[in-house]
Amino acid sequence: MAREPIYAVIDIGTSKIVSVVARLGAEGELKPLGMGSAPSLGVQQGIIDDFSEVKEGVRASLDECLRYMGRNPLGNIHAVVNGEHLVGINSSEGLQHGSESVTVTENHLRSLISGAAGSLSEQGESKSQQTLHIIPMRYKLDGVDGVRNPTGLHTSELQLEAHVVRGSSIPLGNTVRVLQACKVQVDGMVSHPLASAEGVLTADEREMGVACVDIGAGTVKVSVYRGGTPFYSSVVAMGSNQLTRDLAVSLRVPYQMAEELKIEHGHALPDDLPPEEDVVLPPTQTQSRRTMQRRELCEPLYLRSLQILKLIHEELCNAELTELPGGIVLTGGGAKMRGFADMTSRGLRTQVRVGAPLWYAGLPESLRQPEYAAALGTLQWAVKHRHLTDRGRVRPESEKSGWSPGSLFRRPFARAGAGEPKDD
Ligand SMILES: Nc1ncnc2c1ncn2[C@@H]1O[C@H](COP(=O)(O)OP(=O)(O)OP(=O)(O)O)[C@@H](O)[C@H]1O
Ligand SMILES: [Mg+2]
Repeated sequence: MAREPIYAVIDIGTSKIVSVVARLGAEGELKPLGMGSAPSLGVQQGIIDDFSEVKEGVRASLDECLRYMGRNPLGNIHAVVNGEHLVGINSSEGLQHGSESVTVTENHLRSLISGAAGSLSEQGESKSQQTLHIIPMRYKLDGVDGVRNPTGLHTSELQLEAHVVRGSSIPLGNTVRVLQACKVQVDGMVSHPLASAEGVLTADEREMGVACVDIGAGTVKVSVYRGGTPFYSSVVAMGSNQLTRDLAVSLRVPYQMAEELKIEHGHALPDDLPPEEDVVLPPTQTQSRRTMQRRELCEPLYLRSLQILKLIHEELCNAELTELPGGIVLTGGGAKMRGFADMTSRGLRTQVRVGAPLWYAGLPESLRQPEYAAALGTLQWAVKHRHLTDRGRVRPESEKSGWSPGSLFRRPFARAGAGEPKDD
């Protein structure tokens, strides 16, 4: 019997480095084999800034994962990538065939995606920018918009609208280098906003229109879906660590103590707390034990949460949304801040839920937490897109079949308005 394929992912986050390995069962279900987690010390706002610290963290995370896995091999890995340099744009690409109509085939669709990748290369991506994903949103056939699956339909002009995610080559290359230094080959990279959405959004939410907001330690990731596909994604350098820093400054306590106080007593809406509720602050090197009103303790958390909410609002305005029937799904460790979902719901007048990874049976409770949305979403992504390469390009099936995008551009379609396209 053929061995079931193994999928491995790593999420090098600002606060933790998580690795998860799962086996793909015969029914298409993922069975977790192991996981590892280590503190992340060399990452700032989603970007690696200390190679050796990150290498050590990756090694520790993978070692823990391998201990769970017994004698199973790790295999190649998909990595979550993050940082403000990741930009989602919507782009269109067309093929046309004069006045005659032809039947659209899968190869035409692949050709459009390759064409989109080619156009981006022509725009100089190879030096400083890299394309991570080209996700088809919808097609236009002879001017008729909104076609989801044109395969088998007749048309003389075919246009693809796709959500394209690009990032800076240097931080993306550093992720690959650090993993290679740990003797792991990278099979694919998934942008954090889309990885989190993959982990926590239901198919219904994606269909009707929903925003997924991942609040991590150093970044806020926003993705917006409609009609089943993403049409907006972005990363902003602001995160839940800032709440901890604000608390440390306001209380004049060490950062680690502020982190513990934030998790144990934090609330984004202090006015919702009973005024008589007090918190005892442990002694520090400079201050003796003291008691303070919980409302007062939470005041800086309220102010920073409000700033994060404004930022989310700005992102949703940038997405030019007219409606969001599926509301907002908050995820990432920062989404666990008490009161923040209520604040978001009241402030943006929409329904809000906190999303933990949706998964098949067998996921340990410890992994059903918002901070694992991106890692587990990437596992699902890797399975779903297993015929694609890390750059969102179609794997060279053309090489197997003798098919090439260039020949398809000419026979029967030609790239709209581009004359004879160049071969890749
Ligand atoms: N119960 C909680 N209440 C409030 N905040 C929490 C809670 N649990 C975790 N956090 C915060 O969540 C953050 C970590 O979230 P997460 O693990 O998603 O970040 P990350 O993936 O390491 O960072 P990034 O995605 O920005 O690179 C930390 O700032 C932590 O303080
Ligand atoms: Mg994260």
